[in-house]
Amino acid sequence: MRLATLKPMRVLGIETSCDETGVALVECQPGRAPRLLAEALHSQVGLHRPFGGVVPELASRDHIRRVLPLVQEVTTSAGIDLAGVDRLAYTRGPGLAGALLVGAGVACALACALDRPAWGIHHLEGHLLSPFLARDPPSFPFVALLVSGGHTQLMAVARVGDYRLLGDTIDDAAGEAFDKSAKLLGLGYPGGADLARLADQGDARAYALPRPLMHSGNLDFSFAGLKTAVATQARKLGPAPSDTQRADLAAATQAAIVDVLVHKSMRALETSGLRTLVVAGGVSANAALRLRLDQAAAAAGCRVHYPELHWCSDNGAMIALAAAMRLQAGLSMHDRRYTFDVEPRWALGAASDVPLSENLG
Ligand code: KG4
Ligand code: ZN
Repeated sequence: MRLATLKPMRVLGIETSCDETGVALVECQPGRAPRLLAEALHSQVGLHRPFGGVVPELASRDHIRRVLPLVQEVTTSAGIDLAGVDRLAYTRGPGLAGALLVGAGVACALACALDRPAWGIHHLEGHLLSPFLARDPPSFPFVALLVSGGHTQLMAVARVGDYRLLGDTIDDAAGEAFDKSAKLLGLGYPGGADLARLADQGDARAYALPRPLMHSGNLDFSFAGLKTAVATQARKLGPAPSDTQRADLAAATQAAIVDVLVHKSMRALETSGLRTLVVAGGVSANAALRLRLDQAAAAAGCRVHYPELHWCSDNGAMIALAAAMRLQAGLSMHDRRYTFDVEPRWALGAASDVPLSENLG
C-alpha cells in the first residue's frame, strides 16, 4: 500500500468557499516540494459589486456555471486528461454553505466517476500553507497570522496538520474592518485593496483612532470598536468630505489595523519562542502591513514569509497544495466521495488527522 505514495501524485484542488471559483493541479513526489502544474481562477467581484457585498445565492449559482469549465481549462493547460488526476481535493469549510456544496459536489462526482479518493480541505489550512508555493518557502515550525475577510487568527504551526490556536478575533475580522471602513469612505466592495490605495495618499496622524485590545496581554483581536470609531469620524466629516480628509481617514484606519496586527504577531513570536512568521489570507497582500512586519521582525531577528500576491486571496492552488502536503506528510482525511459534506463554520484548531492507510482507499 505504501508504494502507492511513491509515484508522482496529481491532486486537483477546487475552491468555492466564497466569491472566487479556483481550480488547480499540483503534483507531489516524495522528497520534493509540491509543484503547481496549472491553475485557473474566476473572481465574482464584478457580479456582487452592485450589491455592495457577497450575495450567497448568486455566488453558488455562479460557482455552478464556472467550475467545470475551469477544471477543463486546468487539465488542458497541464496537458493531461481527467484520468491523469490521482486525488480530488475540495474546500470543505469554513465558508458559505451553498457555495461550498458546489465544489464538494463536483469534486466528489468527479472522484466517483474516476474512482479516486476525494478529500475535504480546511480553507484556512490552504491559506496557511500557501507561502509554500512561493520561491522562498518557510520551514516549520512557525507562527501563522491568518488575516482574511472572515478570520483573524494567530496559530502555532509545528508541522503540516499540527495547528494550535494562540489568538482569535472576538468580533470582526481584520479584512472585515478594512471592508466596512472602506464602505464608510464611499469605496466599493470588497474595499480592502481600495482603502489601502487611498491610504497611500493620506496622513495617518490626522485622526486618532483606537487600537482595540492592543495591550490586552493576550493574543486576541477586536475590530468592531475601530469600525464604530471610523463611522463616528466619517459622520463628523459630513456628507461631502474632501479628498484629503478621506485619504487621511483611510490612512489612519489602515495604521490602526496594522499596528494591532504587528504588535500581536511580534508578541506571539516572543511568547512562543519561534523565529518565523507566516502571514496569509487576503489582508496579507497589504503593503503597509508587509513593510511594518518586515521591519519589526528584522529588529527582533525573525523572518516573515508571505504568499505571492496572486495567492493571497482565495484560489484553488492552496487547496491542492494543502492536500499534497498532507499526502507527503503521511496525513490526510477520509475519502468523502460517497458521503460528502461541508462545514460552513469549521474551526482550524488542533486538527484531528487520520493515519496514512486511510488515504489510499
Ligand atoms: O482570504 P480572502 O480572499 O477571502 C476570505 O477567505 O475571506 O480575503 C479577502 C479579504 C477582504 O476583506 C479584502 O478586502 C481583503 O482580504 N484584502 C485586503 C487587501 N487585499 C484584499 N485588505 C487590505 N489590503 C489589501 N491590499
Ligand atoms: Zn480565504
